Amino acid sequence: MDAIDAALVQFNNGQTVLVEYRQYPIARKIRKRLQSVTATTPMEEITKLDVHLGRLFADAVTRLLHTTGISQEMVVAIGCHGQTVLHKPNAPEPYSLQIGDPNLIACKTGITTVADFRRADIAAGGQGAPLAPAFHKVQFHHPEKDRVVLNIGGIANITILPADADIPVSGFDTGPGNVLMDEWISHHRNLPMDKDGNWAASGKVQHSLLTVLMNDAYFQTSPPKSTGRDYFNLVWLDSCLTQIKSRMNPEDIQATLLTLTARTIVDAILEYAPGVNEILVCGGGVHNKALISEINKNLPGYIIESTEIEGLNPDCIEAITFAWLAKCRIDGKPGNLPAVTGAKKKVVLGAVYKPGN
Ligand SMILES: Nc1ncnc2c1ncn2[C@@H]1O[C@H](COP(=O)(O)OP(=O)(O)O)[C@@H](O)[C@H]1O
Ligand SMILES: [Mg+2]
Repeated sequence: MDAIDAALVQFNNGQTVLVEYRQYPIARKIRKRLQSVTATTPMEEITKLDVHLGRLFADAVTRLLHTTGISQEMVVAIGCHGQTVLHKPNAPEPYSLQIGDPNLIACKTGITTVADFRRADIAAGGQGAPLAPAFHKVQFHHPEKDRVVLNIGGIANITILPADADIPVSGFDTGPGNVLMDEWISHHRNLPMDKDGNWAASGKVQHSLLTVLMNDAYFQTSPPKSTGRDYFNLVWLDSCLTQIKSRMNPEDIQATLLTLTARTIVDAILEYAPGVNEILVCGGGVHNKALISEINKNLPGYIIESTEIEGLNPDCIEAITFAWLAKCRIDGKPGNLPAVTGAKKKVVLGAVYKPGN
């Protein structure tokens, strides 16, 4: 929700070339409206946001193409993930909803648009998430070294890439990435993020609270599993805070949220990727120095690097992933990894929207 990530990508015989990447900030008013969407938000508000985001996404593509001087006819397709507003893959009738009307994107840009990537996987019995591991495999598999790819977005997820190509790739959402720290600092200091984790670093970890937070059933659940901002948010935090009697300073709570984020990532790696000691990090959380140093501290001897060392900007891996998934859809190839999402089979992901001109 911090920004629209727009990447122009060329796929040449298995090689991924990033032509251009831009972030277009999302106005604070819109971000606040998106953050306040819950399961009980009126349908009209969600529909208005759907249309508004569709226009913003189309504008982002138009601006990106303008920047590069590449014309719309040269682009095969737009892959648009959309903004997740609801994600409940374990409900009796599981669902995941991303908004940003793809009809508007196709119409305004004149480019075929692929969207709605998650629901085909859910229909096949999967979590609909995470979807990034399939692309991580294509991009970061190493024939001699086992690796973990760690994406720290709003939610954090890991992909475990065994060197032995016969061993299936696995991966899952570990829990909160930046989401709790972002929301807490926004609530207390009206800032969109805790730059470099400095505010968290000024506080003291509250172990009584950390214990309550870490006791959440999500962290004990075995994969396949996925989660979202509609679960890990300030309402969740409040319900944990009410279990603690003592008063705490806001910066101490921020420090505790940072530790929670780091610990749950580290625990997931130690439990599900034992012996793997190389970690490639992407997503905005890679810039949170205090967070990365806390992860480092808990994984001594590990090689922890940004995906930059593999030649890909860590901020745009997700955008590139959805360009790749759009290519899979256009080529009629499956995009999910059943071992990751829990789907019964491999399925082609996404729906195609034609500009109609
Ligand atoms: N310098 C920084 N210090 C701390 N956090 C940062 C920094 N740069 C980016 N971030 C975090 O990264 C987030 C954006 O990451 P991103 O991967 O785009 O997440 P999302 O999937 O939610 O869009 C910001 O909201 C912020 O929490
Ligand atoms: Mg972002």
